[in-house]
Amino acid sequence: MARILPLEEAFDPALDLLEAGDVVALPTETVYGLAADATNGEAVARIFEVKGRPRFNPLIVHVSDMAMAQKIAVFDDISLRLVAGFWPGPLTLVLPLREGHGIHPLVTAGLDTVALRMPREFAREVIDELRHPLAAPSANSSGRISATTAQAVEDDLGDRIKLIADGGPTHVGVESTILKVTPQAVYMLRPGGVTAGEIRNAIGVDVVRGGGKGIEAPGMLASHYAPNAAVRLDATELREGEALLAYGPNRIPGADKAVAMLNLSEKGHMREAAANLYADLQALDRSGAATIAVEPIPEDGLCEAINDRLRRAAAPRS
Ligand code: TXA
Ligand code: MG
Repeated sequence: MARILPLEEAFDPALDLLEAGDVVALPTETVYGLAADATNGEAVARIFEVKGRPRFNPLIVHVSDMAMAQKIAVFDDISLRLVAGFWPGPLTLVLPLREGHGIHPLVTAGLDTVALRMPREFAREVIDELRHPLAAPSANSSGRISATTAQAVEDDLGDRIKLIADGGPTHVGVESTILKVTPQAVYMLRPGGVTAGEIRNAIGVDVVRGGGKGIEAPGMLASHYAPNAAVRLDATELREGEALLAYGPNRIPGADKAVAMLNLSEKGHMREAAANLYADLQALDRSGAATIAVEPIPEDGLCEAINDRLRRAAAPRS
């Protein structure tokens, strides 16, 4: 069992653990992160061990200010405009590492680029006080559903970590959007909490989905975010014994026979749906149904990130 403490009480013990090279689970605006000092190889190794994460999958480095960010990476003009528009917030930029960056190579899986983001509030304050950047993947076992509450972290990783800082349910609910700016294009390696439309409004450029050759995020495994149950997308009717993940005001035929049903957002509000996604999947999984049917969800705005996660949850498991 990990200690679960409210943010004010968690702050000092979290710093002590991070300074000692240990890991701490803490809330960000997107999902809970499993954080460690990104300059300390043993601490970072502990993240991979606790999550059971393959070492070829690099981690996001979290910073508290631009001075810290620019010691680590080199920013081009478009990336600086993205920073001005979205930091602190749910946007991660993949940038060239700067000479003398100090980030342990385990974090970047030996790449010459680094994924950087500036989180809001508590996580940012912890980094600011620590004076070191934090490597932090989502606080869940590799391949499983990301945690958006302290209890979800405890259920998954509680026997492997000492402290969970409890900030209540996270606001955004899906991970950060990952962008890589090149002279040719702005690639969206992962859809997330900042939408393609918001990015276009900020920089006047349309993102290109995916990475192009050699740019795809190395950890973008097809099967990810997976519950124990099978996941069936775009269901047009409910089948015997299924649980139902609903969206919007209208139900598919047979919905009343669902073993369990949760609605991501009755009114079809995308922000609400994103915030509910992982907790609803976990709750439906607990119903014991062999399959979770998912109603069709439109493919725009924040729903792009929701659909991306659901497709990975539904992908064949290796
Ligand atoms: O919202 C978030 O981004 C959360 C919170 C905790 O900040 N973090 C998160 O981390 O989602 P994680 O480890 O679950 O996802 C990091 C993704 C992986 O898919 C990885 O492949 C990609 O970032 N990534 C990391 N470094 C990269 C790099 N240098 N180039 C391309 N992709 C990279
Ligand atoms: Mg993750």
